[in-house]
Formats: sequence, C-alpha cells, structure tokens
Amino acid sequence: MRNFMSEKSANTPRSVIREFVGMSYKYDKVLSFGFGQPDFVTPKHITDAMKESLDRGESFYAPNTGILPLREAISKSYADRGLSYGIDEMVVTIGGTSALLLALEASLDIGDEVIISDPCYAAYDGMIIMLGCKPVRVKIFEEDGFMFNPEAVRAAITPKTKLMLINFPSNPTGGVADYDNMKALAEICVENDIFCITDEMYRELNWTGKPFVSIASFPGMKERTIIVDGFSKTYAMTGARLGYAAGPKEMIAKMIMLLENVFSSVFTAVQWGGVAALTSSQQCVEDMKALYRHRKALLVEGINKIPGISCKDPAGAFYLMANIKQTGLDSRTFAAKLLDQEHMLVIPGVGFGEGGEGFVRFCYATNDENIADGMDRLERFMKTI
Ligand SMILES: Cc1ncc(COP(=O)(O)O)c(C=O)c1O
Repeated sequence: MRNFMSEKSANTPRSVIREFVGMSYKYDKVLSFGFGQPDFVTPKHITDAMKESLDRGESFYAPNTGILPLREAISKSYADRGLSYGIDEMVVTIGGTSALLLALEASLDIGDEVIISDPCYAAYDGMIIMLGCKPVRVKIFEEDGFMFNPEAVRAAITPKTKLMLINFPSNPTGGVADYDNMKALAEICVENDIFCITDEMYRELNWTGKPFVSIASFPGMKERTIIVDGFSKTYAMTGARLGYAAGPKEMIAKMIMLLENVFSSVFTAVQWGGVAALTSSQQCVEDMKALYRHRKALLVEGINKIPGISCKDPAGAFYLMANIKQTGLDSRTFAAKLLDQEHMLVIPGVGFGEGGEGFVRFCYATNDENIADGMDRLERFMKTI
C-alpha cells in the first residue's frame, strides 16, 4: 500500500505543549503552569446570552460573515480604540485559530516566505507549512524585551517574503512591542511591500501602562494588515471558540469565501455570547486583569528568589519565560525532570522555536495557592540540579 499521508502534514511539527501535557497524564496530580488558558469560568452575563439564544430556537446555520449584531459590536469596539472597521471589513470565526489560518490562506501562495519571531506561538509554523509556505524565523531576545530587532527583520527579507506575522502581547514571551518598535515594523512592511497579520489575541492583557498600539494604525498599514482577535483570553471563553478578523474588504471577502469550504458559519448562540461580552460592562475584564497582574507579581518575585533561575517582568499576556541557562540543562530536559520529580508542568522554550532554548514558559492564569505551591516545588527541584 502507498503511504497516503501528505508530505505537508508529515512535515507539520507536533505541538510541544500537547506533548508535555500528554506526558503529564502519567502522574496523578500535576500542578500545571502549562496550558495557556484563563482559569476563570466565562462570566455569567455571557453564558446567559448564549442560553437565551438557544431558548429562542436559534439552532440553524448562521450567516457566513457572522451575525450582524456581533459585527456591529466589534466595529464599535474598534471605533472606541480609534480604529475604523465597518461591518464589511470583518469576519467572525471559530476562535482566533481559524481566523489566523484563513488570513494566511487568503494571502499566501505556495512557496511564499513568512517572517515570524523565534520564539513564537507554536501553531504559526504548522499553519504556514500546512499551506506549502516557509516560516522564516527571526530571533528575538530577553534583553530586548522580546521585541523584534528591525535590522534582523530587514536581513531576513528575500524576494519571496510575502508576509510578516506578529503577535503582541506575545505568547510565549509576554513581550509587547513599544510604539517605536511597532512603527519600525510598519515601515519595513510599507517599504518592502509586505503584508502583515497581527495576532492581537492578548491586546487587553497589556501591563505596560501605555495603550496597546495596533500595527494597523500606522500610515499605509490598514490596507496591508489583517488583525486577528478573539474572545478566548479576554473574556475567558476558550471553550466557546469565538474569534474574528478585521482587514481590507477584498481580503475579508476572500476569507469568507474560504470559510464556506471549511466550517460554513459559527454557532449563533456563541456569537450572542460575544455580543454580550462586547456590549456589557467591561468590569469582568478589569477584575480578571487585576488578578493576572497580582499573580504575575507573585510569580516574578517567586522565581527571582530561587537561585539558578530568573525572569524579567513580562509586559503582557499571561505568560513569562523563565531563564534556566545557569542550570546547564536544555529546556526539554529541565521541563521533563521537573514534571517527573515534582509533578509540575511548564513548557520547554524550545517548543516555540530554537530561540526559546534556555527558557521554560510559565502560564500564570492560576491561583495564588498554586503559585505558592509551585515556587516551593521549583525551589526544591533547583536544589537537586
Ligand atoms: C498567540 C495566540 N494566537 C491565537 C490563539 C488561538 O486562540 P483561540 O483559537 O482560542 O481564539 C492562541 C491561543 O492560545 C494564542 O496564544
């Protein structure tokens, strides 16, 4: 029998997060800093809105574009942040994940090169490879706050470079590009006629004290940028699978056409949850953010007290990269030993690219007790290596 597996899928890398989460199932009770998801349940007014939709009998296919009230609410939320996106410049998707894939699909041809950071969100590589394209990784460093070095980006551009895919605040680094850095990236895109996808899933979780600036807001960028966003992180709605993309009309129209071939539309009840999330008081978001800030402070202080491991205060998202270079262990060995000895799960930095080697990722979307327990386990572990 022939090997029916496509080369593309054979070449798609396996998620190290899933691998380590899988390894953790061997142990009875694991203290997890692994999975990147809020530990809060979805706020009640949001789930109520979903239930009400179900009670109205809205169990049919929804419009491919997303329901009008949700697109109107998204449009208004952009206007509130000084960005102008009409209802025909956006599409509602199944999580930010499918928005990303559709945006890449709409803009890339086989063989195109895409600039991404190293380390970066692990799914980027897989998606780009799946589409027959080439991820071109540009290393980013802890000492630069995990921002791109614009010169390194310029050096990575070739005639095949079609796209730059950026993600601030970042998973896994917690880095946030400052205004000047974002401006430099925008200028590179315009000067080199490169399209941009900006993954803004964590834009609300911005600890810099300065407003988040979208690359789409720089001169010449709106027409060459697709913004990917969603409800998973901001509103603790990971299970609802609700996301969206905003960008130039023609690109969005193409994404809607492509979407028809994949998932057709997003469940109406879930979309009404999105309407409630955007149009109600944002106090629930502020409350969750206050807790994330507090937990971040606990974790940063805890890690930096332990000899042999350190971290910088992350600027955004709910992740931090702890520097383990002093231990002499590679990140896989470190994470595997920590899991084995202390039943504590962190993700090896190398799972996000070679540039993540020497680091392990902690997600601090977990409670104070777990953080304190984690620091005890980590301290005990560090004494053994
Ligand atoms: C950087 C980044 N982008 C996109 C996603 C996808 O989010 P979702 O599909 O849950 O909306 C995630 C989820 O972890 C993420 O970390």
